Amino acid sequence: MIEELYNDYYKYADFYDIFNKYRNYERETRFLLNMLKNKKRILDLGCGTGTHLNILENLGYIVEGIDLSEKMVLLAKEKVKGPIHKANILDYKIDEKYDGIIAMHFVFNHLKGYDEFEKALQNSLDHLNSKGIMIIDLDNRRVSGDVYDKVDGNKRHLECFYSDNYSIQIRTSFFTIGLKEFIFEHEYFIYEKEKLEEILDKYDITYVMLTNFLKMRANKNSERIHIVIKKN
Ligand SMILES: C[S@@+](CC[C@H](N)C(=O)[O-])C[C@H]1O[C@@H](n2cnc3c(N)ncnc32)[C@H](O)[C@@H]1O
Repeated sequence: MIEELYNDYYKYADFYDIFNKYRNYERETRFLLNMLKNKKRILDLGCGTGTHLNILENLGYIVEGIDLSEKMVLLAKEKVKGPIHKANILDYKIDEKYDGIIAMHFVFNHLKGYDEFEKALQNSLDHLNSKGIMIIDLDNRRVSGDVYDKVDGNKRHLECFYSDNYSIQIRTSFFTIGLKEFIFEHEYFIYEKEKLEEILDKYDITYVMLTNFLKMRANKNSERIHIVIKKN
């Protein structure tokens, strides 16, 4: 029987790390360390299974995470000593301020559009110390098509459908894990770089849009956009 998981990170959590096994965390970590130099207290928004937090904690950072999925929170707690909360990036309230806030691997693409982007941004700026750094890592691919991969005998067929009318990419993953099959479907909101700039320009911040986890400037066609914000 095929189990269908629509936007349910509770169930997807169990095999999230399987398909991220060969992800280039070293490159992401190098980028984060570069941006978070001399920072101490870090909050990870949509921390997933806690891999970035685990790496940063082992390097001496004081870390904390939030995620909407209860299962992701449980898995992250196994990897991380710092607190992990079940909370929404739109309205979390923590009685703490951070030197760095990160949202890696498309967490903000899960929001419904510009209003939610701004709400989550404002909320996080309220939790950021002055001179603090915020990093929002966005998927910027406007493509449809199929990707197949296989990790340790587990298979995934990812089918993407991008709709320009709605700025939405529908991503359907067909997983075969051992003898079981799952379908996981979710939507990514794909932002226009210029519209993000209009939002960011309203705040008392300086920011840059980079790509490829390098100090390379993003353009509107970059596959990925990492917004690096410094609170004034
Ligand atoms: C693609 S995963 C990224 C996980 C992790 N940051 C990483 O780099 O692997 C997206 C995560 O964002 C979480 N998420 C999605 N929408 C959220 C929201 N509104 N508030 C908090 N977490 C959210 C999901 O539960 C999931 O764990």
